[in-house]
Amino acid sequence: MNGFVIKAFITIGNFLCQLGFPSYCIWRIIHRLIKRVILAQIRAYRDIDGWLSDDEASGLYLLSNLLDQHCKVLEIGSWKGKATYCLAQGLPKGGTVIALDPFDASGEPESSALYRERGGDIPLFEQFVHNMTKLGVMKKIKAIKGYSHQFVNKFIEIDLLFIDGDHSIEGCDFDFLNYSPLISHRGYLVFHDFDSSRKDLGPTWVVENRVLPSADFVFWGCFNSLWIAQKAHVL
Ligand SMILES: C[S@@+](CC[C@H](N)C(=O)[O-])C[C@H]1O[C@@H](n2cnc3c(N)ncnc32)[C@H](O)[C@@H]1O
Repeated sequence: MNGFVIKAFITIGNFLCQLGFPSYCIWRIIHRLIKRVILAQIRAYRDIDGWLSDDEASGLYLLSNLLDQHCKVLEIGSWKGKATYCLAQGLPKGGTVIALDPFDASGEPESSALYRERGGDIPLFEQFVHNMTKLGVMKKIKAIKGYSHQFVNKFIEIDLLFIDGDHSIEGCDFDFLNYSPLISHRGYLVFHDFDSSRKDLGPTWVVENRVLPSADFVFWGCFNSLWIAQKAHVL
């Protein structure tokens, strides 16, 4: 029933977008209307350690639901799978989430102490696989151990790129420059931890200095600190 309600609203949303209504208004309203229904579909996300709010988790699920069958999602920075789970739950048939993370609790200097503290005694990769298996989504996930710089040119096309790995300006910029060209026509680019009052954060810097000035992407919407753009239509 929940799945049917979500699909019905997505059909209405797509229709209104085709009529020319701005996507950020349409999907924001739809998200508000069906947020509870979505949260019922992903309620287990709250049991996984991580940094997502209800708005962000339900926003990721909604976005993943908008993709086509057999789509590919690339998540850079997966930690214990909180966002991976939301994305995987929303995927249409045949879709895959590629979860790329060193799974060793390492990160840019500002975050590494926190990651070490919250990592826990069990190896992160084990925790990730355990969480995803327990929630029944592991079959939709391809987990890759390593840093984003080790996999440049290893993927062909992705329909949704979620950048949530190295949050420094250099790290975030690297991920944007090297992976955003792989986003398919009408695919989505998503940053976590965008905050317009924090110019020192990598996601904020990349959005304001790379994405917004570029003609390749158009702003799609925000869910708390989740900032989303869509690959522009190429004639
Ligand atoms: C904020 S956490 C990700 C949170 C996760 N998306 C969630 O929803 O819970 C950042 C993760 O990115 C990883 N990371 C840091 N630098 C990375 C890089 N260059 N490539 C891939 N992962 C990276 C960190 O080790 C950490 O696991």
